[in-house]
Amino acid sequence: MINDVSQILDVSKIREGFPILQEKIQLSSCSQSALHVDVKASINRYVQSWEEQGMNWEGWMKACENARLEFAKMINADVSEVAIVSSVSHAVSTVATSFINQKKNKVFVTDFDFPTVGHIWLSHRDHYNVQFINKNESNFTNLEDYEQVVDEETLLVSTSHVSFYDGYKQDLKKVANIVHERGSYLFVDAYQSLGQCEIDVKATDIDMLAAGLQKYALGIPGIAFLYVKKEIAETLTPKITGWFGQSNPFAFDIKNVDYAEHAKRFDSGTFPMINGFAAEAALKILNQWDSKGIEQYLQELSRLTISVAEERGLTVKSPKDVTKKGSNTAIYVVNAPEVEGKLRGEGIIVSARNDVIRIAPHFYNTEEDIRKAIAALAKYM
Ligand SMILES: Cc1ncc(COP(=O)(O)O)c(C=O)c1O
Repeated sequence: MINDVSQILDVSKIREGFPILQEKIQLSSCSQSALHVDVKASINRYVQSWEEQGMNWEGWMKACENARLEFAKMINADVSEVAIVSSVSHAVSTVATSFINQKKNKVFVTDFDFPTVGHIWLSHRDHYNVQFINKNESNFTNLEDYEQVVDEETLLVSTSHVSFYDGYKQDLKKVANIVHERGSYLFVDAYQSLGQCEIDVKATDIDMLAAGLQKYALGIPGIAFLYVKKEIAETLTPKITGWFGQSNPFAFDIKNVDYAEHAKRFDSGTFPMINGFAAEAALKILNQWDSKGIEQYLQELSRLTISVAEERGLTVKSPKDVTKKGSNTAIYVVNAPEVEGKLRGEGIIVSARNDVIRIAPHFYNTEEDIRKAIAALAKYM
């Protein structure tokens, strides 16, 4: 039994917003969370306004601006510190083009980052000395691993808040302290943490942070946000830019680049509007709840997942200490993609990655969901 969390979250009420849960067990929030009725209605509002009004630029832009505001609220940033981008890859790319020609050029990427991060920095090897911080023998990365390699020559360290593979979660404040002591910048990929735990860019003193909506943030791909700390945004000149990154997009001045103030300079083309409608609704739902409460509930579900999996003799590849992991519990399965398909056939949606099945609950999942999913998984092992 998990500890009583009814004081923190009303899970039955939350479940009412997700019709799919009446039919299926969705435990795939590390890949795609369930569709909430408000998100569907918001997407439909875009379609309806297009169909009925032909065009509503003002309303469509407003939805995207509202989404930007909700994201800022969620990470405790000022809205002027948030840019709208189309993916986390876009965010990393625009950051990578912004530091060209600085005095220092050493960039560290942790090797548990999502591969897109490595691909992007390596594609800029003509400008940066890109190195990886490798996992230690525990299979995770500790503060000492940063301490050993990050030095005064380091321009920037890129890492993930929560690992996409095994859910390993870092203490960002402590990582930021080490990175800042060396005079370097910290970039955080928070795609796997947004929506499932507290993110406070001020308390943790992060310089840049990117996240999309598709994982725990109840949205769809095609939109992402980039936080850039107020104090540094205007020292940077992104080379991935466009008319919306200019101080006045409607000046239509083709012969000058005049970057917008603050993080808005990282905006580029027309906003991904339908995705913005989904994002606005999704983030509003999450912002109604206390992120620490969601985090605490998911820790309880993690504890349960680990113990039920171990009782059945399954191999857990995630940290066993639930304070060092996000919601995702990775279970070793040789033929993981095949097993993912078999579970889908039973109405249980989980996500495979290489050699693991990821059991990734959200605030709408229950103890029963976990028990049923692990029992079904054990059958195929
Ligand atoms: C942690 C993390 N970062 C980045 C990505 C890729 O993001 P995008 O496709 O928006 O570039 C993923 C996708 O799963 C991810 O889990």
